[in-house]
Amino acid sequence: MITAYKKHIVSALILVSSLFITGVASAQIITIPVETQHNALVLQTDADKNLKMVYFGTRLSNTDEYTQIQKMYKQSDDSGVLNDAYTPSGSANLVEPAITVIHADGNTSLNLVYVSQAITKIDDDVSLLTITLKDPAYDFEVKLCYKTFFKEDVTEQWSVIEHHEKGTVTLSKFASANLYLKGDGFWLKQYHGNWASEMQPEESKLMHGIKTIDTKLGTRADLYTSSAFMISMDKPATEDEGKVLYGAMEWSANFKEDFEVDPANNLRLIAGMNNAASEYHLKPGEEFTTPAFLYTYSDHGKGDASRKLQSWARKYKIVDGEGPRFTLLNNWESTYFDFNEDKLKELLKDTKNLGVDLFLLDDGWFGNKYPRNGDNAGLGDWQENKKKLPNGIGSLVKEATADGVKFGIWIEPEMVNPASDLYHKHPDWVIKQPNRPEKYFRNQLVLDLTNPKVQDYVFGIVDSLFIKNPALAYIKWDCNAVIYNAYSSYLKKDQSHLYIDYGRGLYNVMARMRAKYPKVPMMLCSGGGGRVDYGALQYFTEYWPSDNTEPLERVYIQWEYSYFFPAIASSNHVTNWGKEPIKYRVDVAMMGRLGFDIVVSKLSGQELDFCHQALKNYDNLKDIIWHGDQYRLQSPWDNDAASLMYVNSLRSQAVVFNYLVNKRYNSGTKVPIRLKGLDPQKKYQVKEINLYAGAKSSIGDNLVLTGDFLMKVGVNPDVNEGRTSVVLQVDEVK
Ligand code: GLA
Repeated sequence: MITAYKKHIVSALILVSSLFITGVASAQIITIPVETQHNALVLQTDADKNLKMVYFGTRLSNTDEYTQIQKMYKQSDDSGVLNDAYTPSGSANLVEPAITVIHADGNTSLNLVYVSQAITKIDDDVSLLTITLKDPAYDFEVKLCYKTFFKEDVTEQWSVIEHHEKGTVTLSKFASANLYLKGDGFWLKQYHGNWASEMQPEESKLMHGIKTIDTKLGTRADLYTSSAFMISMDKPATEDEGKVLYGAMEWSANFKEDFEVDPANNLRLIAGMNNAASEYHLKPGEEFTTPAFLYTYSDHGKGDASRKLQSWARKYKIVDGEGPRFTLLNNWESTYFDFNEDKLKELLKDTKNLGVDLFLLDDGWFGNKYPRNGDNAGLGDWQENKKKLPNGIGSLVKEATADGVKFGIWIEPEMVNPASDLYHKHPDWVIKQPNRPEKYFRNQLVLDLTNPKVQDYVFGIVDSLFIKNPALAYIKWDCNAVIYNAYSSYLKKDQSHLYIDYGRGLYNVMARMRAKYPKVPMMLCSGGGGRVDYGALQYFTEYWPSDNTEPLERVYIQWEYSYFFPAIASSNHVTNWGKEPIKYRVDVAMMGRLGFDIVVSKLSGQELDFCHQALKNYDNLKDIIWHGDQYRLQSPWDNDAASLMYVNSLRSQAVVFNYLVNKRYNSGTKVPIRLKGLDPQKKYQVKEINLYAGAKSSIGDNLVLTGDFLMKVGVNPDVNEGRTSVVLQVDEVK
């Protein structure tokens, strides 16, 4: 049997080898379709062997016809250079480049022509296409790499730059990808934010000229803007309709994404590491590999695109994405820095009493000469504080084990407070300008991860925690400062390498950590969601979306993250932020990896009972929430209530979450909400769960309806001021 994947490879090879002749020059035109199950990106050489991107969108049924696409465009002299597959600068192309170089001899021109290609089949789903481009005048080459995930319709694209010139070449720009999209108008949905207000969406039509989304913060790259975005083509896509491309950089340091509506009214998209203050000196024979730019496309709207990305992330990117997660109790908001061994032992009992899997000890457990009793001291000194923890972490881990719960711990290993032993011992390990006053972000500075010794030190923090406490079951990795006064004593004359080598150094450490501890769950945190990207998430099981855990705010924040990241990776904690009742808080936190950060002993009997019951329900439903398909039903931005659901792969079970987001008079769900993703032929029982003990649901006890009805007419969860949050469990009735 020839699988869809094999057919795709075969057709690609046929096209590639069936060269055809155009013009008098008899140049060979090579067409390279990069196909996934539903989509195609088509590259083609022109008569001068320049590689062009001639198509991006839904696959054509007849793959032979890819060769005909470019002929349909009547070009003027200049529009012929707009769609380079990787735009060089300093020669014929005068638009925004993907790559800019200064050759060893000082020349600034670059031309890149097609030389060869190779496809490696990694498995039935994944293949890697590498296309080599070379400068005819210099010994300089770029490999364009396209890793396609066929079933998921996802592509990761990056480039590898190398030269054999007679000296060092300076790379002034080095994009990961350069796409060319054709459409009747383009709408960009982008995200801005700050501490406690991550992932605030804005959507606007792109006009001619360049729109840039970038960060120069060094660390906490997503603090003010995420690299994740959507582009709708022809008209703004909706949840279930329209053409939409999702893109994001897999990179945790400075990034830059340019969106240029060009003179031909098409969209040139260039994404990569930010080249600001980052010229890179490349020695002969050295490879410069960019991080991947990730993208998926759907002509069935934003929901379909996000399901593709979510299933890709679970299967291929985040650690143990198809596995389980621990529920937990965190002590950050219940104690802040104020705790001791006795208090923590109480909290271990509370963890058991609440019925969650793990206790997570947050900030404040370390530092002796400079005790970590506030955020102004101790970072860098990762020894237990003897006053707070006279018997060390070890005794807590033991106690937790005796209580039948697991133990996890917070670290912020990339950072140092000036009030620390580390800072005084290794001033050269700190990023700071030697001749300027220090500037702090949260009273701290960033360690110089470009330095391999610092990498060893940071790896050692994690490693020694595990060596001393083999039963340690969870790590929360935080990162609370940006890079001010960028200067590395280690890099010496190559200061402009700092941001790039920082990112690479960070990934070296994380990769070492994962090589030794492949499956331990770890949360990626950055003073909230200051670092949520798939570059880092390949080493983590989950991320912390925001320090803002006010549940009404979280409905919006989680909603927006969910377009790009699967629920299993979203750490959602029930806290005391806001005024919503415990039910609302728990219901919102259930849409992900559920945790608590409250004083359990202060819960009323009714509240504790509710939590116990909700945890039981979560246990039944977590597999659907973590691994099922997510459908957004009704947006919080335009409605009184937000509504979304998760469905298992057999379409036999689903859970629907509904939250009142508008507290004005008489607000609520007046009309039924249509469900999605069910089997129209199947019959389902719809019942409300997560009710307070003794409460009766207004939707009744025995509502059985077909999938057809539930998807065409819908069900009214009856959300209103008296029922601000409603969770419905949907089970197939046989
Ligand atoms: C950051 C994190 C919080 C908490 C504190 C501890 O702000 O986002 O969750 O861990 O640090 O200092």
